[in-house]
Amino acid sequence: MVIRKIAQIGTPVLRERAAPVREDMLGSPEIQALIDDLIETMRDAHGAGLAAPQVYESLRICVVEVGDNPRYPYKPKIPLTVLVNPEIDALTDEGFDNFEGCLSVTGLRGVVRRVGHIRVRALDRTGAPLDFEARGFRAGTFQHEVDHLDGRLFVDAVADPRTLCTWDAYERYHRADFLKRAEVIVAQWGE
Ligand code: NI
Repeated sequence: MVIRKIAQIGTPVLRERAAPVREDMLGSPEIQALIDDLIETMRDAHGAGLAAPQVYESLRICVVEVGDNPRYPYKPKIPLTVLVNPEIDALTDEGFDNFEGCLSVTGLRGVVRRVGHIRVRALDRTGAPLDFEARGFRAGTFQHEVDHLDGRLFVDAVADPRTLCTWDAYERYHRADFLKRAEVIVAQWGE
């Protein structure tokens, strides 16, 4: 496994619509190595997720995992999940405001509106179908990663640019307030 370089905002690959993975290619050593590297790189950078375009591979693959994450201590845990060719459907019109960051937007966080309840369909790394629902912060994490596969970054969805802040400023001025809001979000959506 290799820790790969993470593309930063402004890099064209982050703005492309990534190509679907052909099912007959999913078992190839190259694709399986890419998935291993995504997991390793995500864990090394303490990300909650990582999408293939973020490591310069324009393919519809992303990984998500939330344990005890120092970047997002309020996030409910998500076991390691590999999504190939994922699709998301909204199951509600209701949303919540999430304070997001991204490994491809180093140093910045901002407030993004996310759908509170979604259905996720994808293949796992063996080609088996996945079909599950996610709510609240978990739903937000999956939406963020699948956005990467369509060339979207969280900054595109920041409705009020005045919410953009550095991680230091977040810690100093916004964390306490957001942790309170996070408890309400977890209580409302159950996760
Ligand atoms: Ni991201």
